[in-house]
Amino acid sequence: MRPLAILPSMLAGDLARIGAEVEDVVAAGGDIIHLDAMDAHFVPDIGFGPQIVKAVRRVTDRPLDVHLMIAPADPYLHAFAEAGADIITIHPEAGPHLQRSLQLIRGLGKKAGVALDPATSEIALEYVLGDIDLVLVMCVNPGFGGQAFIPAMLEKIRRVRAMTAGYDIDIEVDGGITAETAADVVMAGANWLVAGPAIFKGGAAAYTDNIAALRAAAEAARGERI
Ligand code: DX5
Ligand code: ZN
Repeated sequence: MRPLAILPSMLAGDLARIGAEVEDVVAAGGDIIHLDAMDAHFVPDIGFGPQIVKAVRRVTDRPLDVHLMIAPADPYLHAFAEAGADIITIHPEAGPHLQRSLQLIRGLGKKAGVALDPATSEIALEYVLGDIDLVLVMCVNPGFGGQAFIPAMLEKIRRVRAMTAGYDIDIEVDGGITAETAADVVMAGANWLVAGPAIFKGGAAAYTDNIAALRAAAEAARGERI
């Protein structure tokens, strides 16, 4: 089984003190930092740009997982890579030539991911399995934190898991992940769990317990997974 990782989604943190928040979630057991870029075009809201990635890069040596909810994405890949992203994930709808964009990301020395919206089929991955390190199964529609998990995504995770068997590819889930939904997504095959409010609720004093609760639910489910 691929290693489990818990990824705090910084959008849910106190953004007036993002550096301290990153340090706190890392100290509390967060494995990888998830940063959402949004452009008010591909999704309704505006999210982090390369400057934020660069600022976060200065405070941690944990991997930075940058989720680009922007279209087009190609003109900005270089800036996010330069800013210090370790993993850059794009949506297939963000440009006309997905495989070219993935090659661009890898050409910049970064890990490449493909994010699937709830209505986007895993078929989009079929011919790029050799070009990716990560599949991000969105379990809500992208654009906002705090939305409810869409149960139909469990079947998609299972299908992605079957498709990626034998490849060096992690399966990430993003949206509506809590200690309750964590077990289901892990049973279905996910091994990277992004979470916003489930980690940041209760303030810094609660981060360790919140992350431990997610990890415990995921570990227990892995124990049951064949
Ligand atoms: C949603 C973002 C997510 C979001 C997840 O568009 O991609 O990363 O912050 O947050 P929750 O856990 O609130 O669904
Ligand atoms: Zn995200």
